[in-house]
Amino acid sequence: MVDREVELPPIVDLTKPNDARVYDYLLGGAHNFAVDRELAKQAVAAMPIIRQVALSNRAFMHRVVRVCVQAGVRQFLDLGSGIPGVGNVHEVAQAVDPRCKVAYVDIDPVVHAHGQLILADTPNTALIHADMLDAPAVLRHSAVRGLLDFDEPIAVLALLSLHFVPDERDPEGALATYRDALAVGSLLGLSHPAGDTTAAGVSEAIDVFSQGHLVPVARDWRRLTGFFGGFELLEPGVTRVPRWRPDREGAEDAPVNGGLGVKTSR
Ligand SMILES: C[S@@+](CC[C@H](N)C(=O)[O-])C[C@H]1O[C@@H](n2cnc3c(N)ncnc32)[C@H](O)[C@@H]1O
Repeated sequence: MVDREVELPPIVDLTKPNDARVYDYLLGGAHNFAVDRELAKQAVAAMPIIRQVALSNRAFMHRVVRVCVQAGVRQFLDLGSGIPGVGNVHEVAQAVDPRCKVAYVDIDPVVHAHGQLILADTPNTALIHADMLDAPAVLRHSAVRGLLDFDEPIAVLALLSLHFVPDERDPEGALATYRDALAVGSLLGLSHPAGDTTAAGVSEAIDVFSQGHLVPVARDWRRLTGFFGGFELLEPGVTRVPRWRPDREGAEDAPVNGGLGVKTSR
């Protein structure tokens, strides 16, 4: 748990739950407060497999990052990163190659406040407070430009974050802007709550999370596949995340779809 003696900026309100800290708690992280744990318990009561969803997505992230590094990619742009703790992208990538560079983007100022503390002494990382849907602003941000070389391949990740983007905000349009800015050989990794699930409690969990500042939407397999426009999907395509290149037998199912694609031409 967060030590209250640690100096956190005033934006970190200890009396209101925060989605990113609730997610951190579900993952077993330490960057959360009693008020977050209370909301997490309500979410687990509404949708008993919600912790499994968070853990399956995190395991998917780890496999995706390793595949990217094995493919020779050493740069990551993580859109909707959440609090960069509990085995986030830089930990996995830099464990393979410490030269890997990771730029995190999140719209939540609370993520920014916690993240600045977490990453203060971590080389080759940056965290910017920005709306990932404003792709031009992210792409020209000095911290992103200072860290990442857009002439070389970059892995763009948007894992369990696009469900906070309503259709009116044109997520496909933003993804196309990122794609156009990337070199050939760049990768796109996505995961998204599945709209075609029969898992119990999904709408109840959405109601619980809607107490926060972001309201989630689920999308089906076809829609997520469409988000990869201009990228060639790598095997096995878009699947439930526990079934995407599993590294252990018998992984539990989770109602989240995900995939990884590569940009093969300009
Ligand atoms: C469930 S967390 C996902 C964390 C991490 N990507 C993972 O897969 O474990 C979703 C994050 O997306 C962020 N987010 C939602 N909408 C966003 C936007 N428009 N721009 C940037 N970040 C956003 C939220 O603030 C939250 O921290």
